[in-house]
Amino acid sequence: MNHIAHKQGSTVCLVDFREMQFSDEVYIQQFLKCLRQAIIKEQILCLDYFEVIFQDEDYLRKINKILELTEDFKGTVFILSEASTRGIIKAHKKSVALFLDIPDGLTRKTLWDYYTAQLAGQLEIQVDLNVIANKYLLTPKQIRNAAQDLNNIVLSKKGSKAVTEEDINQACLNQILSKLSEKGTKIKPFYTFDDIVIEDNQRRMLMDICNRVKYKHKVYEEWGFNKKIPYGRGLTVLFSGPPGTGKTMSSEVIANEIGLELYKVEVPQIISKYVGETEKNLKEIFSEAKNSNAILFFDEADAIFGKRSEVKSSQDRYAANIEVAYLLQEMEAYEGITILATNLQENIDEVFFRRIQFHVQFTMPDRELRKKIWLKLIPPEAPLSEDIDFDFLAQKYELSGGNIKNIVVSSAFQAAATNSKISMKLILNAVKDELQKNGKIFTKEDFGEYSFLVYN
Ligand SMILES: Nc1ncnc2c1ncn2[C@@H]1O[C@H](COP(=O)(O)OP(=O)(O)OP(=O)(O)O)[C@@H](O)[C@H]1O
Ligand SMILES: [Mg+2]
Repeated sequence: MNHIAHKQGSTVCLVDFREMQFSDEVYIQQFLKCLRQAIIKEQILCLDYFEVIFQDEDYLRKINKILELTEDFKGTVFILSEASTRGIIKAHKKSVALFLDIPDGLTRKTLWDYYTAQLAGQLEIQVDLNVIANKYLLTPKQIRNAAQDLNNIVLSKKGSKAVTEEDINQACLNQILSKLSEKGTKIKPFYTFDDIVIEDNQRRMLMDICNRVKYKHKVYEEWGFNKKIPYGRGLTVLFSGPPGTGKTMSSEVIANEIGLELYKVEVPQIISKYVGETEKNLKEIFSEAKNSNAILFFDEADAIFGKRSEVKSSQDRYAANIEVAYLLQEMEAYEGITILATNLQENIDEVFFRRIQFHVQFTMPDRELRKKIWLKLIPPEAPLSEDIDFDFLAQKYELSGGNIKNIVVSSAFQAAATNSKISMKLILNAVKDELQKNGKIFTKEDFGEYSFLVYN
């Protein structure tokens, strides 16, 4: 900015939007004062931190007011905004928008090379920087800081100069001061492909999703597909299926596999009855996620898509349509992964199906998978009584992975509290409790040859 002013032989009049009072009409006076100064001194007018205005409820009107005031200003006006102003400023003639966006993958790689080269001698980097550049959408400044951070991270390990992928991941995550936690929850991914028990084709789809991220750089940049496919390079995924079948778990598996953060957003919580408010929430979530390239996990996504059929008045329908359209547009523009999860696939709108790349349908596990889940969920250290008949448990009860987890955990606590081993008796009683929660009524038959352990 100063560079341009210097070239034109003038100076900059900086209007810091963080210091403007938008809550009432005071901003008009504040703005006029700056404007007058710029006119008198023939300065360039620079509206800095413009994005602050978007927090105002009435921001559209206020932006228009400000633009109106600058209409007769003969000099140049620069608007510096972190959030996109597309569409709002565009309506005003004579404006040119320059998106000084996050640099593309190749540029990021060059920046990584440049800043890490400065650490040569102090550190030994044995990580493919292509992968790192591709994974984290950092600005040049963030890359510089991440590289410097590496030094501290590695120093704290003492004795070794070697930089691992984990160190770099940490350095990158340190740069991302995410505010997302206000609208969503950051989940520390825990599960891996080893933990989840699912059908082979579902597992393959999860792998394919991971590969889309892992090989993005290769396909889009090295192989030039970015020239053919400039938009919609993000990945939108739908997970549908009954409760407890591993939808949330799978999102963690993916996050773990590709080493990205996971943000869980409860859709019903961000839906607002006020017009425009839902979009504002979505907008915040996407723009903040953008920096960390986080995986966005929208749970109970049907709440937004289902709305269209539920609402009655045409006014409401209109608002709901806008919300859905907005979400779709943001998902398409988002370069990372968006996962939508639902128990109610039938409530998901058709427009959405056309835009997703993967639909993973989670189903209740069959007998064979249930047996594997039973065995998988009990840790090797846990004291097990010999009498547990896993074949019987797997065959007799049509439980989800979530149910089995509850049963296993609850019987383990029973065993710990009574200083005994986890036994068939404890498990069967926990099965009964779990299924009764869902309204099932039991008879002796439900426990077959083991009924004596439950009814005695
Ligand atoms: N396929 C599975 N393999 C192994 N464990 C599973 C599986 N499905 C579920 N579990 C266990 O059940 C727990 C709950 O599953 P999860 O939260 O992923 O279900 P969900 O499909 O997201 O359910 P909801 O629709 O209620 O959100 C998991 O943390 C895990 O311990
Ligand atoms: Mg879930």
